[in-house]
Amino acid sequence: MTFKKSILLASLISFSGFCTASASFTFSDQVNTQNSDQIVFVDDVNALDGAAGELNSRSGGQLAKLLALNEFDAKAGSTLHLQMVAGVNNLWVVGSADEDGLSAPELQNLGGKIAASVDSLLNDVNVDVFIDNLNTNLPAPSAYLAQGYHMRHYSFDKYKTKKDAGKSDVHFVTGSASDAEAAYQKDLRYIAEGIHFARDFATEPGKSMYPALFADRVRAKLKGLDNVNVRVLDVKDMQKLNMGALLGVGKGSIHDPRLIIVEYMGGKKGDAPIALAGKGITFDTGGISLKQNSGMWAMKSDLSGAAAVAGTMYAIAKRGEKVNVVGLMAMAENMPSRDAIRPGDVLNTMKGTSIEIMSTDAEGRLVLSDAVYYAQEKYQPKMLLNIATLTGSAARALSKEYAALITRDFELSTQMMAVGERSGEHVWPLPLHPNHFKQIESPIADIKNSGAGNPGASIGAAVIGSFVAEDLPWIHLDIAGVDWLDSDIDVSPKGSQGWGVRFMDQLVRENK
Ligand code: BES
Ligand code: ZN
Ligand code: MN
Repeated sequence: MTFKKSILLASLISFSGFCTASASFTFSDQVNTQNSDQIVFVDDVNALDGAAGELNSRSGGQLAKLLALNEFDAKAGSTLHLQMVAGVNNLWVVGSADEDGLSAPELQNLGGKIAASVDSLLNDVNVDVFIDNLNTNLPAPSAYLAQGYHMRHYSFDKYKTKKDAGKSDVHFVTGSASDAEAAYQKDLRYIAEGIHFARDFATEPGKSMYPALFADRVRAKLKGLDNVNVRVLDVKDMQKLNMGALLGVGKGSIHDPRLIIVEYMGGKKGDAPIALAGKGITFDTGGISLKQNSGMWAMKSDLSGAAAVAGTMYAIAKRGEKVNVVGLMAMAENMPSRDAIRPGDVLNTMKGTSIEIMSTDAEGRLVLSDAVYYAQEKYQPKMLLNIATLTGSAARALSKEYAALITRDFELSTQMMAVGERSGEHVWPLPLHPNHFKQIESPIADIKNSGAGNPGASIGAAVIGSFVAEDLPWIHLDIAGVDWLDSDIDVSPKGSQGWGVRFMDQLVRENK
């Protein structure tokens, strides 16, 4: 392992975000007369009211006719683009019918849909969004629309000569405008920004994103925020702590590993924190157990867990949540080289137990084993969550809809499924059985890093679980399937969606 000069230089020039798309949101009960484009909601095509009703009368009933001609149905999420209705240049009609009321994630999805519609037509957007016909119990629905718009309005075009996306100015015409403005400006916008921060990390090529640089960016982003302390453990620090598993994974790379720790102490002094630990493999070649080439490029996003932790810590600290949270990011690059660890090697962990390496490609559980043990010993958290792009098995089982959720106690899993529903990021339980621990018994070490036969998500969890006290509420999230999107969804363009920021943010909100 050698420290390269170029690391310093690169870290100096890469602090800013890489998304050129920018969006700003304003809220008031007045129309912005400068805007020539509009968005209206319709929940019943046969009874147009609110802004849609007004446009319909001003157009002498043309809007109703156009909706019928285009067979527009008012189901939440349907969109129709029209031009020159009652003098409005571009008009988007958005369906908002929803029987049991629009939830926060459903509103975020609508906001994302709106962003996609206007962005596909206009480079610079100046638009009025009329808030009515929304069936919801939420006091400030436009704040969630803005959050969803903001989340979707992202493009990573740092390496393109032609930049994709321009500036959006979105004005919400709404009652209770000051509540909506506060909810967005003091809270929800930071979630969207945290998500973009996470996507930047996961999208950046492996050549330009490595542990030390990740640490520099986290430091820069959190600089000056109240109650935040960032600590970065380097190789020497980790050697003193005997973190042989984390160090072992990074051994084959010219880029040294790091353990990044963000302490956010916004809660009562002495209250046990929540610990969030993310897998941060800046590129996963598989190591000596080399992966095949097809799709290997996507392993630049094998740091998505750590990226989501970074984004969550940013959101929590920016809004000044009254809670104690510690975010840990276990960073290493998994490369084959003459220094790399081999299959059959035995690594010693901070806990004092040893791990036999069956596959150097099962590296995420190794870096997390030392990270979760450190979190538990140093901070005595009341709850410990780890998040990782850990197994192809989880991806195959649950695909894009759910992240895999593993706990020791089904009651906790049920609670986490509910947190997922409320956050818009869904999780589904997979089992953890005593036999999963049996399967990682090793003939020459305390455990091994994978079982025989089909590699499974539960085995990965069992390895990490071996480092977590049995009585500590522990949540394992395997996001290998969900983070990287092959096609757009409402709140994210394809590519990394920054999965986990909304989930962890919600978990923290509910566990103060
Ligand atoms: N980073 C991969 C898992 C992964 C696969 C993430 C596909 C995203 C998409 C992980 O490090 C890995 O290689 N897992 C192996 C473990 C096996 C060798 C025990 C797997 O799941 O095949
Ligand atoms: Zn990996
Ligand atoms: Mn791997």
